[in-house]
Amino acid sequence: MRTKGLNRKAVLAELAKAREQDLKYADGRILCSMCTEPHPMAKKAQQLFSSSNLGDPGLFPGSQRLEKEVIKNLAALLNGENCAGFLVSGGTEANLLALLAARNRANVSNPEVVLPESAHFSLTKACKLLGLKAVQASLDDSFRVDVSSVEQHINKHTVAIVGTAGTSELGAVDPIGKLSEIALSHGVYLHVDAAFGGLIIPFLKDAGEDEAAFDFRLEGVQSITVDPHKMGLTTIPAGGILFRDHAILDYLRTETPYLTEDCQHTFVGTRPGGSAAAAWAVFQTLGREGFEKTVKHCIGLTRLLASELKTLGFTLVAEPTLNIVAFRGSDTNMLSEKLRGRGWLVSYVPRLDCIRLVVMPHLKRRHVAAFLEDLKTIKGESF
Ligand SMILES: Cc1ncc(COP(=O)(O)O)c(C=O)c1O
Repeated sequence: MRTKGLNRKAVLAELAKAREQDLKYADGRILCSMCTEPHPMAKKAQQLFSSSNLGDPGLFPGSQRLEKEVIKNLAALLNGENCAGFLVSGGTEANLLALLAARNRANVSNPEVVLPESAHFSLTKACKLLGLKAVQASLDDSFRVDVSSVEQHINKHTVAIVGTAGTSELGAVDPIGKLSEIALSHGVYLHVDAAFGGLIIPFLKDAGEDEAAFDFRLEGVQSITVDPHKMGLTTIPAGGILFRDHAILDYLRTETPYLTEDCQHTFVGTRPGGSAAAAWAVFQTLGREGFEKTVKHCIGLTRLLASELKTLGFTLVAEPTLNIVAFRGSDTNMLSEKLRGRGWLVSYVPRLDCIRLVVMPHLKRRHVAAFLEDLKTIKGESF
């Protein structure tokens, strides 16, 4: 740390320099992120509540009310009547809390969790931290978890099974309805990781039956991760964890002797009230109609992109379910490097040998058109 403080102008100049190094969503070049430019109202709300701490809610009852209202909104979207939940640091913490609750509830020796091969790596981290053995279930031809593989892996040590509603690589939605039946028949906890899809699927007008049924309407579903800082257009950090009912909270309770509340249920102690205010402000400003419009925009562009990629001779790994397109050509890794060389931030997925494009709200039709133009040029040069 410097000995003497700098004047504000100098500090701001340094900050501007660093900010300039960061990529901007508005440039339409970021095609590999599950986050996006926050709504202007989210940024405003975050600023207004920048000193508020949800970890000490007796001091910030207004912020706590906003968090409760955000959770109520999410619960209503996911058809949970008696849900308990919190805004947390992200999908990682949400998944960790869900598996902690499942492990403590089951209270068995050598606990195991059945994870789809496509599960987000945050669940692997959670298993490592919680001393859970992660058992991998295979996928079917459409990259959804194979329910018979899940069932085969359930034994007396299984504390939870997990399904994903919107996988990170392909946006696939696991057959949560069938997982729910399995969970009920074996008496195991089902957690749904809808960190990405949870704020998309409820707004899809033409969702197929399989996608539509992923939430608390299914009796086996005990908890759902749903992140406002992904498709919820809010500021980072804002993950969300919802539990079917308040009784599950007993498995997460930690006494907090010197605070204005007597216990906490999240890992993170000091939690940003700004995140609750920001998510609340987006929900109020956009309403259901605003979210539907945003999702329609992303899905429309995804379909356009998918169809143009096929016309250009590329193969789709799967027809997109949500707003993610994954495709491959003859040398896909090289193609991804060439695209990055032209300033397109795409991700290459070695496991599937594909390029993955996440069509977030910051992408406009003109960005997709420019991307396809560059792709055509590269293809013409090297294939
Ligand atoms: C399906 C899914 N679950 C969990 C996570 C982890 O979320 P976070 O990075 O907010 O911790 C992600 C991140 O992209 C995700 O796609």
